[in-house]
Amino acid sequence: MNQIKIGLLGMGRIGRIHLRNINQHLDGARIIAVADPQIEASRFNAEYPGLFFSQEAQDVITRQDIDAVLICTPTSSHANLIELAARNGKHIFCEKPMDLSLSRTISLAEMAKVSGVKLMLGFNRRFDPDFMLARQSVREGRIGDLQIVKITSRDPGLPPIDYIRNSGGLFMDMAIHDFDMARYIMGKEVKEVYARGLVVVDQAVGEAGDIDTALTTLIFEDDTYAVIDNSRKAVYGYDQRLEIFGKGGMIRVGNNLHNQNVLFDETGIHHALPLDFFMDRYSKSYQKEMEAFIDVLQNDSPIPSGVEDALQATLIAYGANMSMRKGEPVRLSEIDISLKKAV
Ligand SMILES: NC(=O)c1ccc[n+]([C@@H]2O[C@H](COP(=O)([O-])OP(=O)(O)OC[C@H]3O[C@@H](n4cnc5c(N)ncnc54)[C@H](O)[C@@H]3O)[C@@H](O)[C@H]2O)c1
Repeated sequence: MNQIKIGLLGMGRIGRIHLRNINQHLDGARIIAVADPQIEASRFNAEYPGLFFSQEAQDVITRQDIDAVLICTPTSSHANLIELAARNGKHIFCEKPMDLSLSRTISLAEMAKVSGVKLMLGFNRRFDPDFMLARQSVREGRIGDLQIVKITSRDPGLPPIDYIRNSGGLFMDMAIHDFDMARYIMGKEVKEVYARGLVVVDQAVGEAGDIDTALTTLIFEDDTYAVIDNSRKAVYGYDQRLEIFGKGGMIRVGNNLHNQNVLFDETGIHHALPLDFFMDRYSKSYQKEMEAFIDVLQNDSPIPSGVEDALQATLIAYGANMSMRKGEPVRLSEIDISLKKAV
């Protein structure tokens, strides 16, 4: 089978993870070209001899020998790069979210459909082995009809304020993963969202127009619930937990810890802290996500996280922002999708 040739756009935190996973662990694909305006060509070439490099994304996207691109640039640049890649007939993997505006997300989804290129979104948590197993148990009916899913998703610390300013806000940037996870586990659509948000970690976040702490209730089409709590700072590390409650039982996925030792003494029971951040906690999911993308391209397999998933998660994030500002629940069917930007 032909090896898939890939261009990587953006070599920041997430781009580096995908570069390593593909070029070191996947036989079916190779990243052969990289673009990033903030990296010096001489530095890149010294570190990655043999790979093409440019500071211009266009130089990578227009290469004849590229089958697909990975868009790992800041969110505000995703839409233009998706359009450019689709116009050049390149398949696309894009980090979440596709765009902050609902109308543009919808038009990108439609454009991808007509252009015939495959477009997969970076909802990597779908590929986490524990979450996959939980979903499989749910699908097998092991805990019966689902009633409530509870997600705890707390970062170990704030990203740079500049990142926050350009991120689209906590719901669009961070909780969007949890909104997608709630849909993925429940296997149904959300009809209503009620969200509250606070600035309690750092006032600089508020000055940048965002929140750092949030609580969201989702109501699904059959009136069942998801409850999601988010914080940008948990002092004990990256806190990622999931609980699924059904008529016939419960599934709980706990944190992945630095080690599995549990020490008992007269002061208490002690175990290690959770893994530090997404790069460690979700390392397997990033590998499996890229395997899935290559499988989509090589074998025409169904896209496991596609434009409809992106659209629904973006709509929920949009609704959460709206609900927080209005101080009341928002029915997603009442949102005017022609609105230009996240409020
Ligand atoms: N799925 C996940 O777990 C996950 C985790 C982190 C970030 N993300 C998403 O990935 C994207 C990037 O986040 P990050 O944390 O890696 O950011 P980052 O700031 O670390 O890296 C972004 C890189 O893109 C480069 N860049 C900017 N414009 C470019 C362009 N036009 N062409 C090529 N390169 C360009 C920047 O110079 C930078 O090196 C964001 O959309 C974010 O939401 C997803």
